[in-house]
Amino acid sequence: MSAEIDRVRPAQDKQPECEGVDREFISGLVREFYRRVRANPRLGPIFAREITGDWEPHLEKMTEFWSSVILKTSNYQGRPVPAHLKLADVTEEDFRTWLGIFAQTTSDLCTENVAAVFNEKAETIARSLQYAMFYRLPSNQQGSRFA
Ligand code: HEM
Repeated sequence: MSAEIDRVRPAQDKQPECEGVDREFISGLVREFYRRVRANPRLGPIFAREITGDWEPHLEKMTEFWSSVILKTSNYQGRPVPAHLKLADVTEEDFRTWLGIFAQTTSDLCTENVAAVFNEKAETIARSLQYAMFYRLPSNQQGSRFA
């Protein structure tokens, strides 16, 4: 998440639309979003299979993730791509469902401008996750296409 760059970025460069959004607000948004995801008939079982015990660590991690994206904090140290590469049965349609629930949640909980910032970030990150999951050659095939 370009932590080095963000650390030296002056505060006034943070998105002005997100004035008033703090970690507590993000924590509430994250919790409501995953409450809806867990209730979804397609995504719920995928998450239930992957997160079998306490949900609290995942919710905390996602709060740190979104705080690093929106508030430019640097507490999130995870690696989203490997976490999703192992989800072999997830499809592009599932990403559309995920983004739909996300947009509905931001629209219900945020002002229009703040929702737009969250949604745009989610769409960009979803695109890069999908690129890694669906369009990248497995490493054992890379470079062999013209061989
Ligand atoms: C259909 C779409 C998606 C599914 C089914 C999905 C599922 C999951 C699951 C099951 C985990 C937990 C993995 C683990 O702890 O072992 C996870 C982690 C995570 N997801 Fe997703 N995800 C989806 C889309 C997204 C999108 C669009 C974003 C970002 C906008 C995102 C961000 C993250 C992050 C940051 C983590 C934590 C990774 C880490 O540091 O361990 N996910 N996801």
